[in-house]
Amino acid sequence: MRAWFIAVLLALAALCSAKASRVLELSDRFLDVRHEGQWLVMFYAPWCAYCKRTEPIWAHVAQALHNTNVRVARLDCTRFPSVAQEFKINGYPTIIFIKGNDEFVYNGDRSKEDILNYVLRMSGPPVQLVTRPESVDMLKSSHALFFIYVGPESGILWDTYYAAAEHFQPHGFFYVTGVELASQHFEINHTPTVIVYKEENHYHFPYAKAANEMDPLQVNETIYHWINVERFTTFPKVTRNNIHQMMKTKKWLVLAVVEENKLNEVAAHELEFRDMVERVIRKNRKKYHDRFQFGWIGDPDIAHSIVMDALPTPHIIVINSTTQEHHIPEDDPLQMTPQALHLFLESVHKQTATIYGGNSYLVRIYRAYFEAKKSLKDMWRGNPVLTSVLFGLPLGFLSLILYSIFCGDCLDAPEEDEDESHEKKE
Ligand SMILES: *[C@@H]1O[C@H](CO)[C@@H](O)[C@H](O)[C@H]1NC(C)=O
Ligand SMILES: *[C@@H]1O[C@H](CO)[C@@H](O)[C@H](O)[C@H]1NC(C)=O
Repeated sequence: MRAWFIAVLLALAALCSAKASRVLELSDRFLDVRHEGQWLVMFYAPWCAYCKRTEPIWAHVAQALHNTNVRVARLDCTRFPSVAQEFKINGYPTIIFIKGNDEFVYNGDRSKEDILNYVLRMSGPPVQLVTRPESVDMLKSSHALFFIYVGPESGILWDTYYAAAEHFQPHGFFYVTGVELASQHFEINHTPTVIVYKEENHYHFPYAKAANEMDPLQVNETIYHWINVERFTTFPKVTRNNIHQMMKTKKWLVLAVVEENKLNEVAAHELEFRDMVERVIRKNRKKYHDRFQFGWIGDPDIAHSIVMDALPTPHIIVINSTTQEHHIPEDDPLQMTPQALHLFLESVHKQTATIYGGNSYLVRIYRAYFEAKKSLKDMWRGNPVLTSVLFGLPLGFLSLILYSIFCGDCLDAPEEDEDESHEKKE
């Protein structure tokens, strides 16, 4: 009787929340309909704190996509583990966009805007056709950055552009249009060409003219590389999610580090510093663009993970995306002038700046240790009871086992000795 009552209550609650939020609650019957149409599904677990934090955003996403053919849903993996297994879920929440037989795991930031842009990109073909002049104005006002191919949809440049667009579809907007329409909005001297529109400016793919005389493989390489490095705005906000994409540019990442509070506000003196960096790079785009990608970090934790130490804010770090080494200026960043910033970047480029970190074996171990410690700390903050059960019990057993194995040696082999000499003195 009581179980029945609770079941009714739960069903009612589910009904209410579903109605209020337009998010469909899925069960294992989802496996029968997964190939039908387009789905955006959050795989969650009721105990996961990140899932709870994503819930209100998810409701907004569902509301925004209500009149489209993308169905927004969620699935409780603790109740339907078979579905979770089918989709190879190994972390919560996992967001997957499902289109027919294709599945795309979302790796971006869990903000409404980013998720909606992702759906907008993934739900259509990789390259979308623009046929009306006013559409270009709309694109310019709604996207800070997009790529557009101008010319007939055939030939080597088109084929390679299309292939690159397919690859970068999760990360960028790609369009195609004709010459007449394009000339109303962009400076066109020859076709076919590819343009990147970026923050009210536009830039041509430098090898568009020569493409027909080049080796197709080389055209593919160059356009792929060009799109890879041009797909970032001049001074984007850098998060744990997009930093991996930015590392793929193989440029130096120059990141201004400030601290945002929960309302995304930054203290005045930190803001001043960030603006100074931004002004310098916008003014000197030509000088720095080929070698440096700039950005700013609002969460100092990210910077801590990179330098593996506490870093006061505001600060500036430069990461070599090939070697993962980093540089920080020697002077106090608050006293930094534009001139000092130029000199610092120059020393990075000439490779005379002091190098920290990197990707060597020892650094990797230390980084893993640092990250593990940090996630344990976060987990503890989120759910102390669960953390102690998860780690306390096995650790207890482990120490018992280790003790019983090694207790004879423990007494005569002090730990520090071993660490320093890296060889065991028997
Ligand atoms: C084009 O270049 C990219 C990047 O180097 C590569 O991954 C892809 O396989 C190439 N495609 C063709 C058809 O060669
Ligand atoms: C990173 O370091 C390597 C090795 O020192 C160097 O060759 C490269 O130019 C540096 N910069 C970038 C952006 O990769």
